[in-house]
Amino acid sequence: MPSSLVSTLCLILISGFLSLLTFNLQTAFNMNHGSYPEVNVHEVVHFGAVITLQHVSTTGGYLSSLNASYPKRPASSEQQLVAVAAARSDDTSWRIYNASMRSELVDQDDVQGMHHVSRDATVILRHVATHKFLHSHQEFAAPVTSGEGHWEVTAYGMRGFEGDANDDWVVEPLRGAVLTTATPFRLRHRLTGCYLASREGAQLPEWGFGLQEVTCTRDEAGGDLWIIDAI
Ligand SMILES: *[C@@H]1O[C@H](CO)[C@@H](O)[C@H](O)[C@H]1NC(C)=O
Ligand SMILES: *[C@@H]1O[C@H](CO)[C@@H](O)[C@H](O)[C@H]1NC(C)=O
Repeated sequence: MPSSLVSTLCLILISGFLSLLTFNLQTAFNMNHGSYPEVNVHEVVHFGAVITLQHVSTTGGYLSSLNASYPKRPASSEQQLVAVAAARSDDTSWRIYNASMRSELVDQDDVQGMHHVSRDATVILRHVATHKFLHSHQEFAAPVTSGEGHWEVTAYGMRGFEGDANDDWVVEPLRGAVLTTATPFRLRHRLTGCYLASREGAQLPEWGFGLQEVTCTRDEAGGDLWIIDAI
């Protein structure tokens, strides 16, 4: 082998080793600090992270669920309410999982998976405070927004129950191959193709505490962009 080729190969090996070392040091640094102390605007979202979803298209409220149910009238599933709330609280925390891991979630909460959430990943979102999954179905129309194509969104399930395919959402970031805190994204309901959305001026009545309605819609009018506010 010519000696110039050998030294080139050596250089490549050494620089590769150095960048690996730097990467490992950075990882160790992050781990020592446990949960990330500050939100880095380019943070990559990993499975197992607790996140809040901020609604981009209106006033920037948060995807929320509370210990209250949709009422019998208008016709509803009577499952747990999901809405946009103005402020962050315990009600606005969701944990994001790879949907393939649902059976492991039956008796544990901290399935990590380690992997980042990639474009077109099928995810499930579990409401931390009540252990229910973000859910939609086309048996019931949305309570406020009338017309075809706006369906009810609920939180559904309980500890010990692995949920069902109506809990599956596909992640569609506006750009990039992975979901980061800097990327607005859409969540598409995998079975029915509608998008998680909310509209300015669609306020729930008293039973919904006047919060802004959340629906699943195929309406092109939008209202379906979200961004992760914290991880
Ligand atoms: C939710 O509300 C019901 C009835 O109002 C109550 O029995 C239950 O304990 C509440 N659950 C939580 C987690 O607060
Ligand atoms: C989800 O988990 C399955 C099964 O382990 C795996 O094949 C798939 O690649 C994972 N999805 C992502 C986006 O990591």
